[in-house]
Amino acid sequence: MARVLSGIRSTGKLHLGNYLGAVTNFVKLQHEHQCYFFIADYHSLTTHPTPSNLHQHVKQVLVEYLAAGIDPEKATIYIQSDVPEVPELYLLLNMNAYLGELERTTTFKEKARSQPDNVNAGLLTYPVLMAADILIHQADYVPVGKDQEQNLEMARKFARRFNRMYKTDFFTIPKGFNFGNKLIKVPGLDGTGKMGKSEGNGLYLSDTNEQLRKKVMKAKTDAGPTASDSTVSEPIQNLFTIMEIVSKPEVMESFKADYANCSIRYGDLKKQLAEDIIKLIEPVRERIEEIEKDDDYLKKVVKMGTEKARESAKKTVDEVRHLIGFRPF
Ligand code: TYM
Repeated sequence: MARVLSGIRSTGKLHLGNYLGAVTNFVKLQHEHQCYFFIADYHSLTTHPTPSNLHQHVKQVLVEYLAAGIDPEKATIYIQSDVPEVPELYLLLNMNAYLGELERTTTFKEKARSQPDNVNAGLLTYPVLMAADILIHQADYVPVGKDQEQNLEMARKFARRFNRMYKTDFFTIPKGFNFGNKLIKVPGLDGTGKMGKSEGNGLYLSDTNEQLRKKVMKAKTDAGPTASDSTVSEPIQNLFTIMEIVSKPEVMESFKADYANCSIRYGDLKKQLAEDIIKLIEPVRERIEEIEKDDDYLKKVVKMGTEKARESAKKTVDEVRHLIGFRPF
C-alpha cells in the first residue's frame, strides 16, 4: 500500500486544471492506498488574503474536494494549519535549504516579477513548506500538475539532503505522478498558457452549465486550416488538449480528421467540448451545492482528518527530532 498525497492552495474555487491535475483520478486510489488530501492554507498567506476570504476559501476547497468523491472515512482530508507538526518540520528543513537554490526557483522568480511590492520570505521558502507537507507523511507519490514539477523536485532534494546529512534512509523520496506517465498541464481557453486561478481563465467546478457553455464558446480560435498551411496554432492545440482529456477518443479523432481535411467547424468543436466538460463537472457541482450547506458534516470531517493527519505527522517529527539530536531531559 503506497502513501499518496495531494495538496491544493486555498486561494479560491477549483478549476478544471486543479481537478484533472490533482484530484479526479486520484480519488479512486483511496480504496487501495493510504491517501492524504489537504488544503494548503499557510501557502495562501503569501498573497495576504483578508481574514474572511481566508476562511471562505478553505471551506470552498474542502467542499469541492469532498464533492469530487473523497471519502473521509477512507482517505485523510485535513487543513494544513490544523497540523502544527507541519510548521515544525518546515522550520527544521529550512536549516538545510539554501538561499541560492530558493532564489533560482522558477515560481519564486515569476512571483518576484509579478508582485514586486510583496516579495516576502514566505514566497522564498514556499518549496520548503511544500516539502514539509509531503515528507511529513512520507508520501511515495504526489499527484501534481506540470506547474509543480520543480517544487516537487526540491522536496526530493531536501529529503535526500537530510538523509545524507544524518546518515539515514529515513525520508522516503517522493515521486510526482499523473495518469499516463507525464504530468499534465490543462491549458486555458484564452489562447496561451495554463488554466490558473491567477490567470482568470478558469472553468470552475462550481460554474453552472450555462457559464461553462459561454466560456467555451468564447474560447480563442484562429482563421482555420488551409490546404497550404495545416500547422496547428496554440489556441486550437489547447482546445484539442482539453478535448483529449475530457472527450471520448472517437470524438477527438473525428475532429482531428476534419481539421486535417480542412472541413472543421470550430463552432461544432466548441459545442461538443462544452457538453463533454459539462458531463464531467455537472455532477460535481450538484454535490458541491449539497455539501456546502452541511456545516455539521464539514465539522465532523475536519475533526476526523485532523486527528488522523496529526497521528501520522507526529511520528515523523518525533523521529526527525531524534535524528537531528534533540533528546528529552
Ligand atoms: P495549486 O493550488 O496552484 O494547484 C493545485 C494542484 O492543481 C494542479 N494544477 C494543474 N494541473 C494541470 N493543469 C493546470 N492548468 C493546473 N493548474 C493547477 C497543480 O499542479 C497542483 O497539483 N503549491 C501547490 C499546493 C501545495 C502542494 C503541497 C501540492 C502545497 N503543498 C504538497 C502537492 C504537495 C499549489 O500551489 O497548487
